[in-house]
Amino acid sequence: MYELIGVTKRYQRGQERVDALAGVDLTLAQGDRLVIQGPTGGGKSTLLQMLGGLDRPTSGRVLLDGTDLAGLSERRLTAVRGRTIGFVFQSFNLIPTLTAQENVETALVPLGVRPSERRGRAVEALESVGLGARLGHLPSELSGGQQQRVAIARALVKRPKVLLADEPTGNLDESMRDEIVDLLEGLWKEHGLTFVLVTHDSAIARRAPRLATIRKGRITIEERRPVSAPDPVEA
Ligand SMILES: Nc1ncnc2c1ncn2[C@@H]1O[C@H](COP(=O)(O)OP(=O)(O)OP(=O)(O)O)[C@@H](O)[C@H]1O
Ligand SMILES: [Mg+2]
Repeated sequence: MYELIGVTKRYQRGQERVDALAGVDLTLAQGDRLVIQGPTGGGKSTLLQMLGGLDRPTSGRVLLDGTDLAGLSERRLTAVRGRTIGFVFQSFNLIPTLTAQENVETALVPLGVRPSERRGRAVEALESVGLGARLGHLPSELSGGQQQRVAIARALVKRPKVLLADEPTGNLDESMRDEIVDLLEGLWKEHGLTFVLVTHDSAIARRAPRLATIRKGRITIEERRPVSAPDPVEA
């Protein structure tokens, strides 16, 4: 699904240079889940932007199903983002004057989905995140956890293949954090998504089967096997 080869990202501001990514190689199969952690400024969000085609690498290749995102025109990149990739961020980025349902529907407008189908799919997506009873609420009438659920519904209503989440629980208290992570994990399994989650939450990182750490633009990946019980000894 994804293959990143020698991806670098250099930000240059006047004399000052930051190598946000310093040569990242990464392969993800459809349905994989990768948790990314690392110190602030390490390059986590920059990597997510590369995966999501929100920005282009300075060098290297970002292959998504064999297509190099770095080589696509802005128009084709926007189309790939719209159809294939769902994003969830720390800030919910909901439109304050629109209801939950309207916020979710906005994701389908650029895809040319008819209004009646938009409504149906938005309702379905909100039901799948447990907000079927809050369709007509404005963001200001929802709790933080509920607002993040709307943002998740907005990401999933497009039926993407990839879900990229950048500290989705960063603005939530502890009890809501677990709820949102459980929800995301459930959706990942249910929809067979490729799921990349950036988090500072060490409890989430601890139980991740595949954990990436990004420091100073370099990635290391740790594969962990679940600790299984020893084979029963035959009598
Ligand atoms: N648009 C930009 N212009 C210049 N420098 C940038 C830009 N975006 C990011 N950087 C720099 O690139 C480095 C990596 O930033 P990035 O946002 O990827 O870190 P992060 O790992 O997501 O950190 P955090 O945990 O704080 O979110 C940082 O040193 C940052 O200052
Ligand atoms: Mg970040």
